[in-house]
Amino acid sequence: MAPVASSVPVKVGHIDDVQELRKTKPSSIPERFVRDMTERASSVVTPSSSSSHLNIPLIDLQNLFNNSPQFLAELSNLSVACQQWGFFQVINHGIELRLLEKMEKVAMEFFMLPLEEKKKYPMAPGSVQGYGQAFVFSEHQKLDWCNMFALGVEPHFIRNPKLWPTKPADFSETLEAYSREIRKLCEKLLKYIGRSLGLSDEDVFEKMFGVSVQAVRMNYYPACPRPDLVLGLSPHSDGSALTVLQQGICTTLDEGLQILKDDTWLPVHPIPNALVINIGDTMEVLTNGRYKSVEHRAVTHKEKDRLSIVTFYAPSYEIELGPMEELVNEDNPIKYRRYNHGDYSKHYVTNKLQGKKTLEFAKIHH
Ligand code: OGA
Ligand code: NI
Repeated sequence: MAPVASSVPVKVGHIDDVQELRKTKPSSIPERFVRDMTERASSVVTPSSSSSHLNIPLIDLQNLFNNSPQFLAELSNLSVACQQWGFFQVINHGIELRLLEKMEKVAMEFFMLPLEEKKKYPMAPGSVQGYGQAFVFSEHQKLDWCNMFALGVEPHFIRNPKLWPTKPADFSETLEAYSREIRKLCEKLLKYIGRSLGLSDEDVFEKMFGVSVQAVRMNYYPACPRPDLVLGLSPHSDGSALTVLQQGICTTLDEGLQILKDDTWLPVHPIPNALVINIGDTMEVLTNGRYKSVEHRAVTHKEKDRLSIVTFYAPSYEIELGPMEELVNEDNPIKYRRYNHGDYSKHYVTNKLQGKKTLEFAKIHH
């Protein structure tokens, strides 16, 4: 998330907030949310296809952190997960369950506040932080069935203290504690990702990134009477290096997140106490396409609301980056140009979410 963007304020008839819209029990879905046929949640899933029964890989981090006898096997699982899936879930990640629960609780309490209270933290036009709908740039653009609350966390200069809510009272301290733990997890994951790539220096990412940028986005998807017509979150890849997604710690959740695998949308089944990790555009560039930033989206449920808490971990804005020399060779010719990460972040947040389109920014067309 970069400090500058240019989204327009969202107005849908007289109701511009999906939680409020839901409360009115609308007899039909407002036009702004109804997707074109090709985009609809229902039309793209092909349950009969060969990969639809597959689950995204599960990595047991205990096997990596503790140098267990399974270390090499797990490292190889990690490598396959990053190359072929771009997504995996982790268990035994070392973050206390109580902290995950607490984070989910305060995020939930925030979304349950009256609208007037949440509107004290508005996502201003020209920013992606605060409460509202990000990535909306025109009056005609279809809207996601989702309320978002996003905050820059690290380094401190990206924070907008006015947007840190005073209710619930323990929100800020919880987010601080949570973010410290997620940051440590990202640092460790990058180390093992470095090893899984066979890089000569496993700390290469940490050294390259400078003081990493960390932002959090809480997504609240109210139940939708017609989940077949809408999307919770438009298809996109993340601009981050790594993304950590938490869901369903306090409540058992149905699926909502889907990833595009071999042209099929596959659901990510929530696993208790697990975190979902995905490779962002930055890692795809650094690894010259070996590790994939995979397109994903969220769908809604007819009866159940869903909450996700998503952390984006990325290099410092002033960092120049491009494919690492060690990973470019005759068999894998260079696919991306070098660029400034701040410029990429700005490009990302000033364009609507549209599959993997934002990465065109860096692509070299041979
Ligand atoms: C995101 C994202 C998916 C979800 O916030 O970038 O992909 O399930 N969220 O909330
Ligand atoms: Ni995402």
